Amino acid sequence: MSEPAKKIVLSGLRPTGRVHLGNYWGAVKNWVDLQDQYDCRYFVADLHALTTDYADTSAIRESTIEAVTDWLSVGLDPEKAVIFVQSQVPQTAELALIFGMITPLGWLERVPTYKEQLQELRERELGTFGFLGYPVLMTADIALYRGQCVPVGKDQESHLEICREIVRRFNGMYGEVFPEPQALYTATPKVPGLDGRKMSKSYGNTIALSDSADDVKAKVMSMVTDPKRARRTDAGDPGTCNLFPFHLLYSPKEEIAQVDEECRAATRGCVDCKKHLIRNMNAALDPVRERRTEITAKPGFVREVLQEGGVRARALASSTMRDVADAMKLL
Ligand code: TRP
Ligand code: SF4
Repeated sequence: MSEPAKKIVLSGLRPTGRVHLGNYWGAVKNWVDLQDQYDCRYFVADLHALTTDYADTSAIRESTIEAVTDWLSVGLDPEKAVIFVQSQVPQTAELALIFGMITPLGWLERVPTYKEQLQELRERELGTFGFLGYPVLMTADIALYRGQCVPVGKDQESHLEICREIVRRFNGMYGEVFPEPQALYTATPKVPGLDGRKMSKSYGNTIALSDSADDVKAKVMSMVTDPKRARRTDAGDPGTCNLFPFHLLYSPKEEIAQVDEECRAATRGCVDCKKHLIRNMNAALDPVRERRTEITAKPGFVREVLQEGGVRARALASSTMRDVADAMKLL
């Protein structure tokens, strides 16, 4: 008896350089967890990066390589998942053009993140065709590989909704070519930055997967803890401490309970608590750093992985484009 076909998972991330713990726990870890049960295709969304960063592309190539190096160092496996770069699959642009023909402008103008970002990034000229068409390009990414499940954060919800509408419209007009993609929201833990705001490169408050053990130590030591614990003898509240979410991620269960208890009873000092966390974090991050060192010791390795992933992705894409041409009665 043949195995039932695995569902197709498709996801991308814009190339933002070295992966930090927010990116890892929010997306990349999930990608790694999915690669055994699903047929996964993961890519660097470098064309999407151009929708906002077209004026300065100087960092894009290096950011792509750095990001993929981190993906591999945390266990994303090119034997299990197709790992590639969006711009290396020209059919992406072709399918985006076709989807552009059938997408009403009103749908795009109504996307809440579109208006928000226009406001937020007011210093850039974002009255462009490409920026408005962000969800059209995203639909092409997904449909090109017949993606069924799309692991994304809640921030992508409105984009994914448009993707579903575009696919439905295509299927309704020309025949069922594409599955309707489903969002795969998975619970993502809270990962605050060093200053307590969301961990983000633009806030400069990150811990990177590739930070050295000493970097991790210095960064954790600099973190703000429960602000109400002015003295060692004041009882603390892990619920308002920035450090505690990291214990939840990196410390074993029994130790978490102990941290919680001792913090509330003021029998644990914050400095000791930080040292405790640093030990656990570095124990988890050491093997990742080791793998990264192995990968970077092989010059050209990441490029080769992306080269091979590109070949596989283009093969999948051209088979889809054949079906698109047939459905649309193009030659
Ligand atoms: N828009 C996504 C983000 O900013 C990246 C992305 C581009 C994507 N194309 C995709 C995610 C297709 C899932 C599927 O994070
Ligand atoms: Fe935070 Fe630990 Fe200090 Fe409690 S003891 S406030 S959990 S650092």
